[in-house]
Amino acid sequence: MLSKPRKVLVTREIPEVGLKLLRRNKKIKLDVFSDDKVIPRRELLRRVKGCYAILPLLTDQIDEEVLDAAGPELKIVSNYAVGYDNIDVPACVDRGIVVTNTPGVLTDAVTEHTIALITSLARRIPESDRFTRAGKYRGWEPMLFLGTQLKGKTIGIVGLGRIGQEVAARAAGGLGMDIMYYDIARNRDFEQAYGARRGKLDAIVKEADVITLHVPLLASTHHLIDNRRLNMMKKEAYLINTSRGPIVDEAALVSALKKKRIAGAALDVFENEPKIAAGLTKLDNVILTPHTASATIETRSAMADMAAQAILDVLAGHQPKHIVKPTP
Ligand code: GLV
Ligand code: GLV
Repeated sequence: MLSKPRKVLVTREIPEVGLKLLRRNKKIKLDVFSDDKVIPRRELLRRVKGCYAILPLLTDQIDEEVLDAAGPELKIVSNYAVGYDNIDVPACVDRGIVVTNTPGVLTDAVTEHTIALITSLARRIPESDRFTRAGKYRGWEPMLFLGTQLKGKTIGIVGLGRIGQEVAARAAGGLGMDIMYYDIARNRDFEQAYGARRGKLDAIVKEADVITLHVPLLASTHHLIDNRRLNMMKKEAYLINTSRGPIVDEAALVSALKKKRIAGAALDVFENEPKIAAGLTKLDNVILTPHTASATIETRSAMADMAAQAILDVLAGHQPKHIVKPTP
């Protein structure tokens, strides 16, 4: 006897490779929220009912209310992201629901975006572009848009996971920067390979010319960069955030930037997305991108493939590759 099809909800259109994998499977009844916007909460609560699997985005909060609305058939939440702070992982685990993410496949894209932000800040590319477009260019000038050389400067990597390590590798090899890092775990192989020094966070904040954040969002990393630490940074230093917005106290950052306490910041993520702290968009010494660090065709397709595959694995009774554990 054929068992009844399993309902799978994908909360927004993702690259076709992933949808195709799910659609092709005869055991699956696929429901894709296809309006071009974040699924409204009420719609999410309605559509999860009776689901076997949910494939949400980082813009969807998967909490107890959603799990209750889904009911006992829910077996897997396959997050279309490497970060999973949008999911109540302990609540899922309590109910025997597997949570998966998409690590690895976005390391290169996020790294390239991070490096692009660093070089763009140091050489004031967006400012120069605005100036040139505005018709203000009157000819070569000895002091026009003087920037900062990165070679020989120190980059402070906060969080030495996959992405932090790759950023360090490119900053060392590609840009000739010295590497310092902060992480709860020491990585001696990494230190040897890149001549990197591990330090306390405060020490790195004080010493680095570029500080780049690659930690997950946890209670312990919320406002890791706060007013106190912003005040410890060098006046010439830049802050880069391509991880999660709430790692930085955004209001304190705006104030530090306004007072020229630090030289500049580049943010791909914001504390209350999609809202941006008052004043941030008025500042010339910042670069703001709309959470697009992983937005390459290659990466988004690989994420879709991986997120769909996790659902197929669970459906086939296999262990999916990237199971997320509650953070201790
Ligand atoms: C992107 O922000 C991700 O966590 O995948
Ligand atoms: C995420 O992929 C990380 O480990 O940095």
